[in-house]
Amino acid sequence: MLTPAELAALRQDYAQRGLRRGELDPDPVGQFNAWLAEAHARQIIEPNAMTLATVDAAGQPWTRTVLLKICDVRGFTFFTNYDGAKARQLAGNPRAALTFWWGALERQVNVTGVVEKTSREESDAYFRSRPAGSQLGAWASAQSEVVAGRAQLEAQFTAALEKYGAAEIPCPLHWGGYRLAPQTIEFWQGRRSRLHDRLRYTREPGGAWKIERLAP
Ligand SMILES: Cc1cc2nc3c(=O)[nH]c(=O)nc-3n(C[C@H](O)[C@H](O)[C@H](O)COP(=O)(O)O)c2cc1C
Repeated sequence: MLTPAELAALRQDYAQRGLRRGELDPDPVGQFNAWLAEAHARQIIEPNAMTLATVDAAGQPWTRTVLLKICDVRGFTFFTNYDGAKARQLAGNPRAALTFWWGALERQVNVTGVVEKTSREESDAYFRSRPAGSQLGAWASAQSEVVAGRAQLEAQFTAALEKYGAAEIPCPLHWGGYRLAPQTIEFWQGRRSRLHDRLRYTREPGGAWKIERLAP
């Protein structure tokens, strides 16, 4: 266990670089994709891993990690089970938020927006690109449900394997994508003495992006 003193000593002064407004892409998705490519080039493990926050009917926020699989002008897309906890929360409140943290680059990106399901065609197309084991896993696991034990999960996986054998595994109707259309995207670059750079894009009613610098 780390003592409070050890935790307090885990202090990092960020000094790699700054972020200036003049160097930003006018389009935040272009800026995001440039940062993601840099994170990939630095060999950060799963640089597309993002924390997804959703809110339940009682107003309780929940977070978990998911993988970004498509990022384009329409937004940030991830794939999941449509019957699990996050799906129930998104059905009740489609507003969500994402955070990326790339420690090796001293960078964070925070996104807020509204989520919609991807089309069945997009979900099917992505499902076909997954390894067979992951496809079977989607059939075998009732995401977020309580399970009696590991053996139950493994039995469900074996049942799916026996059902499909070497045949093509169809995408379950309870599985697919969500796309978060961004309303705000904030780029955070760590700086010395906690004077970090924070530049936030906000989507205006006409679709243009306003850029503001925020105090750290
Ligand atoms: C690195 C990492 C990547 C993950 N990627 C996904 C993903 O893309 N889709 C997904 O449904 N769960 C993914 N998970 C599992 C989720 O964090 C979570 O446990 C699961 O989606 C159930 O969440 P829920 O009960 O809130 O719906 C990932 C977990 C980790 C640690």
